[in-house]
Amino acid sequence: MGDSNWGGTTATRPVPNRRRVFCVYGATPTLRSPNGMERFNMEKRVKYELPEAQMPTQWYNIVADLPVAPEPPLNPATKEPLGPDELAPIFPPSLIEQEMSAERHIDIPGEILDVYRLWRPSPLIRARRLERFLDSPARIYYKQEGTSPAGSHKPNTAIAQAYYNKRDGTRRLTTETGAGQWGSALALASSFFGLDCTVYMVRISFDQKPYRRSLMQVYGAEVFPSPSPETEAGRAVLAEFPDSPGSLGIAISEAVEDAAGHGDACYSLGSVLNHVLVHQSVIGLEAQAQLSLAGDNPDFLVGCCGGGSNFAGLAFPFIGDALRRGEQGPRAIAVEPAACPTLTRGTYAYDFGDSAGMTPLVKMHTLGHDFVPPGFHAGGLRYHGEAPLVSLLAENGLLEARSVEQLATFEAAMTFARTEGVLPAPESAHAIRATLDLVEEAREAGTEPAILMCLSGHGHFDLGAYEAYLAGELQDYHYPESEIQAALERLPVMDGGGDAR
Ligand SMILES: Cc1ncc(COP(=O)(O)O)c(C=O)c1O
Repeated sequence: MGDSNWGGTTATRPVPNRRRVFCVYGATPTLRSPNGMERFNMEKRVKYELPEAQMPTQWYNIVADLPVAPEPPLNPATKEPLGPDELAPIFPPSLIEQEMSAERHIDIPGEILDVYRLWRPSPLIRARRLERFLDSPARIYYKQEGTSPAGSHKPNTAIAQAYYNKRDGTRRLTTETGAGQWGSALALASSFFGLDCTVYMVRISFDQKPYRRSLMQVYGAEVFPSPSPETEAGRAVLAEFPDSPGSLGIAISEAVEDAAGHGDACYSLGSVLNHVLVHQSVIGLEAQAQLSLAGDNPDFLVGCCGGGSNFAGLAFPFIGDALRRGEQGPRAIAVEPAACPTLTRGTYAYDFGDSAGMTPLVKMHTLGHDFVPPGFHAGGLRYHGEAPLVSLLAENGLLEARSVEQLATFEAAMTFARTEGVLPAPESAHAIRATLDLVEEAREAGTEPAILMCLSGHGHFDLGAYEAYLAGELQDYHYPESEIQAALERLPVMDGGGDAR
């Protein structure tokens, strides 16, 4: 892996102005079938919905189908593989078991299915209006995860984690949040299962998104801006950088320290870990059933990538099927910001999951655990690392990665909002950007692919970012190579004197 073939993506179409959109729809454009015949009588179905009774009752675990075994997490002191007991201070037994599981399928308990039914199965939408606007040679489908009560895919794992914690005797959950989507999801899940919830919210998002903070408080959570004076990790950062915008790595250190120091509390992570990716597999499993209703197969799977959970949730069931059949599956494309280019420019190495070095060492693509990305408007993608499983698949050529610039991403979000009507979360807009780029690539190549994209969340709490974009106040930021190299030099040193690579 390493550098993507495509590098930073730039704008390919202008932001649609009203006249253009109006003009396109006023003219009732003609859609053409793959063989060029006009299709006035074609089936114009937009939503592919599954009845509740067909919601998956098992999660999928790609570890069972991988051609190579995942590298184990290591104890940072001994550099030896971690035993389940070493995770016990911060995670409940059921989730430790899932984290280490190589079972292909894991039953979803009835109590979790009961909550999932509030929004699952989530709709699969054929983006016909976007296709028409683009005069797209590609069929574009999106899995709408923004319909959950908290507004994103995050409750798929939050509900599961709260359930298992409650069952295993936890009284309080601690966590970090970037954009606020994960914090809202865990606050919601905690309230459903009668748990207290403490959220360390990355400072820049705390300031940019006060209503996400309010939503967490409505669900009953206690919310601190991170770095905070509440923990040693937070105090250490504040002493050196009083104006630190924070990062997910710092907020994770705070939440882990809080959980480790309180016997009745456990820590909950909204991405990265194997069990989180397992819980998110409901996205892809549902999409497979829905695409068969549409009589279609995806050529491309596209998801934005922060820690990797929505992307993996969408893509892994498809990749796993292809691995089992020994076939070439759809091309899976993980999309990240150019300002935090973990998969495209990071190193595959053992590193800490947090900034203070409190977590186990995990083998992943990383920009260095003390990397503090600039304050761009996709808080959920500001993470220095990547899910070990996503990293492993990238290393083995089973998925691709692209990075996109902030302005081109918001431009794509505007196109999507003005055609499909859905205001995407800035994180999800990265997947939209890449989808629009794939459409242009298909046009140039003369192909007619099916693209399946994960719309990981809505952007109703991100209107401050849209306001800044519309006012011309946002900028692109390409993270300098020198900064990346400097952060990588601080990777943990492994036995033998080398770094963790
Ligand atoms: C809407 C949305 N999409 C995507 C992400 C990125 O996380 P992941 O890569 O784990 O899906 C986040 C993280 O907060 C998010 O809020």
